[in-house]
Amino acid sequence: MAERVVARGPGRVNLIGEHTDYNDGLALPFAIERGVTVTAEPLPHGDRIEARALDLGEEDAFALGEIGASEGWRAFVRGTVAELQAAGHAVRPCRITIEGDLPHGSGLSSSAALEAALCLALIEDDDVDRVELAKLCSRVENDHVGARTGLLDQLAVLCGAEGRALRIDFRDLTMDAVPLELGDWRLVTLGSGASHEHAGGGYNERRAECAAACEALGISSLRDATGAGGLPDPLDRRVRHVLSENARVDAMAEALAAGDLERAGALLDASHASLRDDYEASVPEVERTVAALKDAGAAGARMVGGGFGGSVLALFPPGATPPDGSVSVAPGPAARRL
Ligand code: GLA
Repeated sequence: MAERVVARGPGRVNLIGEHTDYNDGLALPFAIERGVTVTAEPLPHGDRIEARALDLGEEDAFALGEIGASEGWRAFVRGTVAELQAAGHAVRPCRITIEGDLPHGSGLSSSAALEAALCLALIEDDDVDRVELAKLCSRVENDHVGARTGLLDQLAVLCGAEGRALRIDFRDLTMDAVPLELGDWRLVTLGSGASHEHAGGGYNERRAECAAACEALGISSLRDATGAGGLPDPLDRRVRHVLSENARVDAMAEALAAGDLERAGALLDASHASLRDDYEASVPEVERTVAALKDAGAAGARMVGGGFGGSVLALFPPGATPPDGSVSVAPGPAARRL
């Protein structure tokens, strides 16, 4: 790295297809404008990385030859450097500055935004395979941060496109751009006030339940399930969510192609009901936020991301006014150097 590099990682909104990525299923996310910016300035001497998280007022420093483990945002930085090195990228001594406008815990994937921005700021190779980079970022979360997340966020952030959602089939990682033409309608997100954390609690438990369901059904992935018949509660409901959610992803793509936004709203509602009742990934703050959005006239509203807190996504028809604090979201460019 001879010069200062600035890279931007966007957050993501998942239009529909929640908790399907680690089940070889389908999802329809897009990158958003808000995100994380990482600046890397070369350090002429030594072999250290110095990092500052401006919004938190915190710092970290470590030797490139002896990275060591850490927690919180530091685990993302150290993990990304370690994974880049393991993948054969030369990481040079530098000072990293992190800032952003995507609150941590909002469920809009500040994690993937940070990982992607770090990668693009630190690697020398401009022509890197973005699917490989997404897998590398996912290893950072799985192996260094302790969150067993899938590939949804990283693919959305690294492979998204302006004006389009990305239909991802996680079985073979094929991606198709789906134009998101909403006319006078708009999508907004509203924070529930409950922070969402992957590395603890419900998320990892749901993954374990899906694995247990697979074992009981004698299949290697829930994509191969034809039903939940015979499974004990709650495994039967977990499987029902995954199967119905996969079907809703294609129904959403069809509704968008037909310009049927009432139907798109109904699918958001159905997804939320399934996440709340079958997947049990909601919390009271999220329920109150969904109710506030529906009361304000949303055609549909659902929790977005891993659940157990975070943000709610809602689709508003022309003329309706979203509640205070709502932020409009639209598909923006993928992670990039500025
Ligand atoms: C989080 C994870 C993703 C995905 C979603 C749920 O955002 O990081 O991998 O599993 O939850 O759809």
